[in-house]
Amino acid sequence: MSREFTADLKKRIEEITARYPSRQAALLPVLHLVQGETGFLSAEEERAVASILGLPPIKVREVVTFYTMFTRKPLGRFHLQVCSNLSCSLAAGERILRHLQAKLGIGVGETTPDGKYTLTEVECLGACEQAPCMMVNFDYHGNLDPEKVERIMEELK
Ligand code: FES
Repeated sequence: MSREFTADLKKRIEEITARYPSRQAALLPVLHLVQGETGFLSAEEERAVASILGLPPIKVREVVTFYTMFTRKPLGRFHLQVCSNLSCSLAAGERILRHLQAKLGIGVGETTPDGKYTLTEVECLGACEQAPCMMVNFDYHGNLDPEKVERIMEELK
């Protein structure tokens, strides 16, 4: 069983697919659109997108699970993505992750009980010159230390 999208969402999907040489080529922007509407991409959304674009559902699953910007479960209001790749690791990025785990009382991949914060460990965010860094939703924060993380968390309250 796949989810039935609203007429408005279907219309916007059609507007996106019209910009591409094939419907299948619109997969990434359509997934961004759907996730923006639903908050996450469940198996139902994956099947619905596959049906609309004429793709095998496994192709949609492959893309959703490959890119870290897609999520298959609900996220907190603030998604904290802490980089653990080489540059950030060399700049002691691990302590940023440990600091947030201790502060929020959750592990990596978990959401606080109030639904406010989700903590994720991610690969390179493409901002190595600011290592260690993290993203909060779509905002980058670099040159982090625990004190700067505290200031960022205060601003989120
Ligand atoms: S290694 Fe962390 S942003 Fe590149």
